[in-house]
Amino acid sequence: MADHHCSPLVVSAFVIVALAFVPISSSVPFIVLHGIGDQCANRGIKRFTERLGNLSKVEGFCIEIGDGTWDSWFMPLQEQVKNMKELRKGYNIVGLSQGNLIGRGVIEFCEGGPPVKNFISLGGPHAGTASVPLCGSGVFCIIADMLIKSEIYTDYVQAHLAPSGYLKLPSNIPAYLEHCSFLPKLNNELPDERNSTYKERFSSLQNLVLIMFEHDTVLIPKETSWFGYYPDGAFNEVVPPQKTKLYEEDWIGLKTLDDAGKVKYISVPGNHLGISRSDTKKYVVPYLQDKASKEEYIEKTSAAKVDPDAVSSQSHERMELLREISTEVLTEGSSSYNWPASVRNFFSELLGVVGNK
Ligand SMILES: *[C@@H]1O[C@H](CO)[C@@H](O)[C@H](O)[C@H]1NC(C)=O
Ligand SMILES: *[C@@H]1O[C@H](CO)[C@@H](O)[C@H](O)[C@H]1NC(C)=O
Repeated sequence: MADHHCSPLVVSAFVIVALAFVPISSSVPFIVLHGIGDQCANRGIKRFTERLGNLSKVEGFCIEIGDGTWDSWFMPLQEQVKNMKELRKGYNIVGLSQGNLIGRGVIEFCEGGPPVKNFISLGGPHAGTASVPLCGSGVFCIIADMLIKSEIYTDYVQAHLAPSGYLKLPSNIPAYLEHCSFLPKLNNELPDERNSTYKERFSSLQNLVLIMFEHDTVLIPKETSWFGYYPDGAFNEVVPPQKTKLYEEDWIGLKTLDDAGKVKYISVPGNHLGISRSDTKKYVVPYLQDKASKEEYIEKTSAAKVDPDAVSSQSHERMELLREISTEVLTEGSSSYNWPASVRNFFSELLGVVGNK
């Protein structure tokens, strides 16, 4: 199946919105992979990409992912990436939320693309998530949640609803392994189908920066951003990343990377994707820059650290970025989410299907 994602026979109908910057350093460019329901044309993601470019002085591109299903994503994405002459010498990935799984898919599954050097992951559901993403407490969402929990591993839901590809209910692991269409493969979880090529490719990263949001209410549990998850069988205490089987048996090379000192486990305050400007500077920007500009940067920021204005404006900056980043983001316990049309239509259809029975 993975090969299909990369097959040149699949037709690409995707558009890139590229935000180019004048590169001042010799760093490789970066791409931003947005989350579900977002698009590069949205102001938040546009400004986020632009700001990263401004801060790092490196060329950055927002790559359009679309709003479809897994099968529709990888090939077009990989073809885009292969066809961009700017990326030929390699590039870095900044993943937002679901975009992280797509980024890992590009690294693990696809043949012959330019090398990915640093992978900076903001709020990625790397080990799955145990709740319907983007849903709140409205009636629609409660019904959707009930439906999804009972129907999530049916082929119909798996084929039509992208987030079902990484919903992992610890209470139903056998069904997850058997029917979940995406994550078990990406994480090499299926004992008979582990592919060492995926591991080899993923462990060739120079740095893997895993940023977890301390108050994340979208990803359940939030530790999934670090590859931590519930133990199989129950919603018990979260198993830390280094104690999972994925890590201990090194299914995808996470342990290999960690042993080499290449995994950075970062925890920042804020809700899902609500990263502050100063944390962006500290944890994202340095990995977008080459060594020379990075050292220069560190000098500058250590000087900047004593600046009291920088500290006092921190919370203001966070909210600003939170608003900017994404339509997907909920703010401060708000229960209204913007579901992408595809998800909404899917549920309306499913409710219709169930109602007609
Ligand atoms: C990036 O820099 C340009 C040029 O200085 C400026 O016009 C723009 O507003 C900056 N964008 C962001 C998001 O900071
Ligand atoms: C592993 O994946 C690679 C790349 O997709 C593929 O060429 C190879 O055949 C796969 N190996 C196995 C054992 O499935």
